Amino acid sequence: MLIAKTISEVNSYLQKQQNHKIGLVPTMGALHQGHISLIKRASSECDRVIVSIFVNPLQFAPTEDLKQYPRQLETDSQLCEALGVDLIFAPTPETMGITGDTDTQSLTTMVIPPVSMTSGLCGKYRHGHFQGVATIVTKLLNIIRPDCAYFGQKDAQQLAIISSLVSDLKLPVKIVGCPIIREESGLALSSRNQYLTSTEKTQATIIYRSLKQAAISFYQGEKQAHILTKIVKEKLATVSEIKTQYVELVNTITLQPLETVETTGLLAVAAYLGNTRLIDNIILRQPIVAIDGPAGAGKSTVTRRVGEKLGLLYLDTGAMYRAVTWLVMNSGINVNAQDRIADLVKGVKIDLIPSNSPELPVGVYVNEQEVTTAIRTPEVTANVSTIAAQSAVREELVAIQQSYGETGGIIAEGRDIGTNVFPDAELKIFLTASVAERAKRRMLDLQNQGYKDLDLAQLETEIQQRDEKDSNRAIAPLKQAEDAVELITDDLAIQEVIDKIVQLYLSLNHL
Ligand code: PAJ
Repeated sequence: MLIAKTISEVNSYLQKQQNHKIGLVPTMGALHQGHISLIKRASSECDRVIVSIFVNPLQFAPTEDLKQYPRQLETDSQLCEALGVDLIFAPTPETMGITGDTDTQSLTTMVIPPVSMTSGLCGKYRHGHFQGVATIVTKLLNIIRPDCAYFGQKDAQQLAIISSLVSDLKLPVKIVGCPIIREESGLALSSRNQYLTSTEKTQATIIYRSLKQAAISFYQGEKQAHILTKIVKEKLATVSEIKTQYVELVNTITLQPLETVETTGLLAVAAYLGNTRLIDNIILRQPIVAIDGPAGAGKSTVTRRVGEKLGLLYLDTGAMYRAVTWLVMNSGINVNAQDRIADLVKGVKIDLIPSNSPELPVGVYVNEQEVTTAIRTPEVTANVSTIAAQSAVREELVAIQQSYGETGGIIAEGRDIGTNVFPDAELKIFLTASVAERAKRRMLDLQNQGYKDLDLAQLETEIQQRDEKDSNRAIAPLKQAEDAVELITDDLAIQEVIDKIVQLYLSLNHL
């Protein structure tokens, strides 16, 4: 691992990395599990990972803790090294074009995010903070020129502002938001937790507990912002040492205040405990249920039926891959012509329209054309795995699936739905069955279709091989998410499996 202090050191490193996908994790150091989760996510998606460590004077007001902020480059470097980070960029303020101790913002060109996004939440109390963040992040993106940059949902306002900055200024980078990492007590990890005494750490757990209390009311049907924020304020007030600065419920993307949460909303808090300012938030949305597991465990039937029962949209990812396959074939493009297919799928529009009756399939539209039945032909079936294995197709479809997920209220199944597509799904199930059981089920299936002379041992071998192949795929391998509930279905009837998942979903309300 290299440590670069200057831009020219970064440039000479980058020159040797052409054709490699670069991931950047911007930090201010004092790394903890929250940062580590971003680094791990970057490593899993990129060929090279760069971590920047810079305590940015532009984002601290004169009254804030710039001097006191923990600086521990030595231990941070050891941690990064152990995590397989390729380069740390640890510049001086001068390298970042920042001189002088006070009124730093008047000495450099500043990036000014929309006032509508900086006037509420933390922006109301930390004047100039987000201008300082936007400016330094723009500088970092220009110096490193990464393909992807990783930010935590912990700083939800920061993430929303950076996402809109990148989109408005057409910066060629993908911003990846990552879930909040918490201590077992629920306290969100933060470098500033170092300032807390152990008593204060216990007191601070009220913050997440109050957010969860509001989330439970939301799940139970409460949509009014003033009631949800009141729940949080009242619960916070039960710990007298906590001085609440704000509790707000806003649109997750534009950050504009909401009166009611129709689909999704960001419920955010800032509070002081002694001199330490703590922030936390929770996204309110109808839950997402992600069902993963090996082939032949009955995922699609179970998922469809649980969706019907709970009134969740069944996000039929298989139909989406079929729709793209149909589009490729209908355009007369060879299914192996990866570059042409990559161009074709860029910006493709796929709509799933729920049907009025459970017996009817979800309507599937590709670029506004209905293909609900056209995607079920044997020709499409024969080509779908070739198309689905192409990374451009996968990336485009994962992005479409994630945009469905923004408003929640969906259920989806696949090989990487809980690990890759919806890592923050409220409920993850790993649905599985032993190889012997799946072979038996497959045999019955085939017999019902009229096949004779089947060899059970042969089917077992095939399933075993398929499992191995699926677990070792370069793109979207089969993995059990750490927080998934494993459901082994060997001795369960389908209805029992469905009932168990429905139960798990309903118990989400009682978190
Ligand atoms: P810093 O506070 O060091 O945080 C670096 C990144 O780690 C941010 O994207 C932050 O959201 C993320 N992070 C912090 N705690 C987290 C947690 N508990 N779970 C998940 N992610 C977490 O944020 C900054 O630095 C600066 O403003 C920066 C973007 C580097 C610009 O100076």
